[in-house]
Amino acid sequence: MTSNKEFGYNREVFNRLRGLANAWSGITVTDEKFEMYYARLTKRLRFHKLADFKDYLHMVENDAHEFKEFINCITTNVTSFGREQHHFDYLKAFLTQSHHKEFNIWSAGCSSGEEPYSIILNLMPVCEKKGIKLTITATDLDTDVLQKGANGVYPLQAIEKYDLAVKKQFFEKGKGTNNNKCRVKEKYRKLVTFQQLNLMDEWQLSQKYDVIFCRNVLIYFDAPKKQRLARKYWDHLVPEGHLFLGHSETLHKISDDFDSVGKTIYRKRG
Ligand SMILES: C[S@@+](CC[C@H](N)C(=O)[O-])C[C@H]1O[C@@H](n2cnc3c(N)ncnc32)[C@H](O)[C@@H]1O
Repeated sequence: MTSNKEFGYNREVFNRLRGLANAWSGITVTDEKFEMYYARLTKRLRFHKLADFKDYLHMVENDAHEFKEFINCITTNVTSFGREQHHFDYLKAFLTQSHHKEFNIWSAGCSSGEEPYSIILNLMPVCEKKGIKLTITATDLDTDVLQKGANGVYPLQAIEKYDLAVKKQFFEKGKGTNNNKCRVKEKYRKLVTFQQLNLMDEWQLSQKYDVIFCRNVLIYFDAPKKQRLARKYWDHLVPEGHLFLGHSETLHKISDDFDSVGKTIYRKRG
């Protein structure tokens, strides 16, 4: 069979690659993602001047640095500022009525930082008014997106939905060649600690959280992994702490340890 592909690639190599990714990250991909893997990984073959995915597979299996690059390529990092705004509205209302002096949030699967910074944009006015100390731990498997998050630089388009007062309070506009970009102000960047954490591993987290955001991440995992994660999230929440999931995710048939208190919003029970 002839192929018009630039690089040698077949189902066997795809299966081996997705098997490696799954064993490490828990990410499950269906047969339909055959072309997606090809498209995402060709830049790595070009970089190493390889002609065939078999050689790339060999490299991924034997070189820890390339394995990291491979994982960074296959993760799906779609995110945006103010995504699923109703979660932030809920938290704002919750904090307005609460007596917290400190509020600790974990953004698990934070991608390039839009989620933790959206939390800040939305909650800071209440926190400043009530003297609440807000801290955010932002974690992801993908080291490239974590670096982007720590830099806090985004195209101006990414924040166009916000009014001028919000833009002025939280961002500084780039100059010269960066005049189409903005950066989260240092004062607010400092509230977020970005760190690599593989949700499939043992977690090195010393504290419990008032809120865990794990949005649009569970969709990549099978049911036993979702169940294990839900148990671990329960353990890492304070009593009555909240868990926020993505718009297409649910704890139905996954966990009975949470009460549903809103659209994809859960509260720790017991
Ligand atoms: C679609 S993004 C969601 C980003 C953000 N939470 C949101 O909803 O906008 C999914 C993120 O989960 C991360 N991820 C996937 N598997 C992971 C794992 N095993 N451990 C940690 N992060 C993981 C990916 O790297 C990716 O950045």
